[in-house]
Amino acid sequence: MSDRAMTENFSERIILALDFPHMTEMERVLSSLRGQVRYVKVGMELFYAAGPGIITELKNRGLNVFIDLKVHDIPNTAKGAVRSLASHGADMINVHAAGGVAMMEAAREGLEQGLTAGATRPLLIGVTMLTSTSQQTMNQQIGIPGTVEETVTAYAKLTAQAGLDGVVASPLEVPLIKEAVSPSFITVTPGIRPKGTDQGDQTRITTPEDALIRLGSDYIVIGRAITAAADPSAAWENMMEQLKRGETTA
Ligand code: C5P
Repeated sequence: MSDRAMTENFSERIILALDFPHMTEMERVLSSLRGQVRYVKVGMELFYAAGPGIITELKNRGLNVFIDLKVHDIPNTAKGAVRSLASHGADMINVHAAGGVAMMEAAREGLEQGLTAGATRPLLIGVTMLTSTSQQTMNQQIGIPGTVEETVTAYAKLTAQAGLDGVVASPLEVPLIKEAVSPSFITVTPGIRPKGTDQGDQTRITTPEDALIRLGSDYIVIGRAITAAADPSAAWENMMEQLKRGETTA
């Protein structure tokens, strides 16, 4: 594959987390990354500040948009929430797998109902265990026994049973998930730290090249390692260089 094709292929699979309190900050980072970033994620912080209009705003710039609101409620409410989100034209939406099969099935129905005529169906993804959660926290505070890997695998199977497209998990869990469900079951993996960047509050982390090349993540989500860098564009370029190097040595 040529360098250019390689870069384009990776760009489609790297989702930049726009975790900002308002659009001014978002504009600063997006203008620095113009032409580099293709896929963005709007989480609770920005969505609650800017409102659903942010989806159209970003789509109009040609970006793919993942709305990361991690819906978790009674099935009827989850269905309505996903219906509303789907109607705004997002490319990816997520719900918590911990909500159970009935809730995820209701969310899937909501997604179908919310689609406007002719729109591409967004991917509906289940969140397994947050990448900031360690096994100790899961066992002692959340009250789930066993290993994180066991819980993530069980949640992935429930997500597939409910007819969703894939899961959010740590890149470290991708091989297990693909084996437990199927190679085509989509994995979206945050907890990404290029070499030399700060771990922050994440615990189950890997580099972009390990996630995308060695472990087989379909999409990675990366935030502060790029957005909090003094020069986000240079940080992005550096990540792409490491990915290209990783691809040629894989
Ligand atoms: O800044 P950082 O790269 O850690 O950002 C990761 C992003 O992925 C955050 O927006 C966070 O909310 C999100 N996320 C996560 N773990 C999950 C699901 C989403 O870190 N399981």
